[in-house]
Amino acid sequence: MIKKKFCKVSYLDQNSFFKTWVNEFRDEIIIFKRKNKIYVKSAVCPHFGGPISFDKDKDYLFCYWHGLKFSAVEGKCLNQKSFKPCIIDYLYEVKKNYIYVYKK
Ligand code: FES
Repeated sequence: MIKKKFCKVSYLDQNSFFKTWVNEFRDEIIIFKRKNKIYVKSAVCPHFGGPISFDKDKDYLFCYWHGLKFSAVEGKCLNQKSFKPCIIDYLYEVKKNYIYVYKK
């Protein structure tokens, strides 16, 4: 199992999300907070690999390339019912105010 240290929890109170490429995961991840819960997901769109961002005001994830929107909680596509792949979730823990993310 790979474990990586990322941003401070307080960063998510001041910014909508934290996003970075992780060589060890071979993935870009996005960390965001909604309703006081932290979420860690892949920031690579399951459609054709476009960049995923979090819209804090509208409360969903979206991709810039073809406009797909995804649930911030389950990662399911919201605006194209025939599209079944979901955004990948990562496990995390908070230790001493830092977010650590795991990949099996
Ligand atoms: S690559 Fe994301 S919507 Fe197409």
